[in-house]
Amino acid sequence: MRFPLSTPPAIPAGTLAAGPQPTLAAGDLVLRPWRASDAAAFLAAYQDPEIRRWHTRRPASEEQVREWFEFYRRAWRQETAASWAMTYGGGDALGRMVLGGMDLGDGVAVCAYWVAPAARGAGLASRSLRAVSDWALGEVGFHRLELDHSTRNHASCRVAAKAGFRPEGTRRSAAVHGDGRHDMHVHARIRGDD
Ligand SMILES: CC(C)(COP(=O)(O)OP(=O)(O)OC[C@H]1O[C@@H](n2cnc3c(N)ncnc32)[C@H](O)[C@@H]1OP(=O)(O)O)[C@@H](O)C(=O)NCCC(=O)NCCS
Repeated sequence: MRFPLSTPPAIPAGTLAAGPQPTLAAGDLVLRPWRASDAAAFLAAYQDPEIRRWHTRRPASEEQVREWFEFYRRAWRQETAASWAMTYGGGDALGRMVLGGMDLGDGVAVCAYWVAPAARGAGLASRSLRAVSDWALGEVGFHRLELDHSTRNHASCRVAAKAGFRPEGTRRSAAVHGDGRHDMHVHARIRGDD
């Protein structure tokens, strides 16, 4: 049971679930919901050592990927998370952008991302993060979007900074990776930031 809020919600319940998960575009960049036909590319991305290094939750088969896509569809209806395939012009899936941990009452959510090796270094992650956060902080009405990355993940730190997520500090020993616990660097973009 959830007790009622004594303050008005930042985003009224039902706002997201009232419609389908949108496709977001910024120039040639198109963030679209996952399709069953993306399963092979999604699974292949998780064979990359860098993605495996920073993402400990992984699918083991295309069937598990499709279950994951179903989880994303449910999460949209439940207004808890959304996940997009990063593409150029709506084509092949080249990366994943997630807006998770949604709390509509407080207007906060958490971002996460990866890009397949062949598509890196072209601004895909930072442009996608900016596009999702522009939409979430603007049209939807979130107030604060947060992300964290291992203090050893310098590329992710750069992506966050380029997308306007300011550094806020370090949570010590906050996440378990394959080689042990890492300190996690926190960034956030709030409504009104650049
Ligand atoms: C981190 C990741 C998402 C970046 O994707 P991308 O599309 O290449 O990112 P962008 O092109 O938008 O920006 C990358 C920035 O990081 C910089 N960078 C890349 N490797 C770096 C490194 N080892 N140290 C410091 N900066 C680095 C790039 O130079 C670029 O910054 P610049 O434009 O100022 O030169 C991608 O490398 C990836 O998926 N890595 C594995 C998974 C991962 O780390 N996910 C994030 C977990 S928190």
